[in-house]
Amino acid sequence: MARRRLRTRTGGQHHELAHRLLKSFWQFRSQDHKEKHMSDKAVIKALKELVALDYDAIEAYDAAIDRLDDKEAAKKLESFKQDHVRHTANIGDLVRKRGETPPDGPDFKRILTKGKVVLADLIGDKTILMAMSANEKITNVAYDKARGLDDLQPNELSVINANYADEQRHKAWIDQHIKDKATA
Ligand SMILES: [Fe+2]
Ligand SMILES: [Fe+2]
Repeated sequence: MARRRLRTRTGGQHHELAHRLLKSFWQFRSQDHKEKHMSDKAVIKALKELVALDYDAIEAYDAAIDRLDDKEAAKKLESFKQDHVRHTANIGDLVRKRGETPPDGPDFKRILTKGKVVLADLIGDKTILMAMSANEKITNVAYDKARGLDDLQPNELSVINANYADEQRHKAWIDQHIKDKATA
């Protein structure tokens, strides 16, 4: 009986209006969905870049540690390298949680300006440490930028923030050590 009433003229107009409203609602929703999908892609891309960057840093640390005469600095840098190993794992986990596979090595583009190739030709502790400081400036910027990504989940933000704190600590120690050695 109710169905029959909908077929009246007024009912038909209502139906048409409802249909139009529904259509624009779904257009809105699908736009929304598209934007959400794009920001998800941006997060995954940024997380993968962080993993590749941390692999790049590990190789630079290996080269630096090999070449340093300063044993105290070499020991410290070994612990920083381990932080980067941990970062490849914890950011890699975030990539996997989003259903994708994280990189298992550095990107061919090599984001660090003083990567292992440059490091291999450097001589002198101060020169090596300054190169590593330049690298850590890049890791700091990268993690700081990642913190500002839209649509990060709370656990993702806390992992990125914790890693960022490591990067800040790395750069601060290296810079301070260069200063200490200069005045020693
Ligand atoms: Fe790192
Ligand atoms: Fe670092």
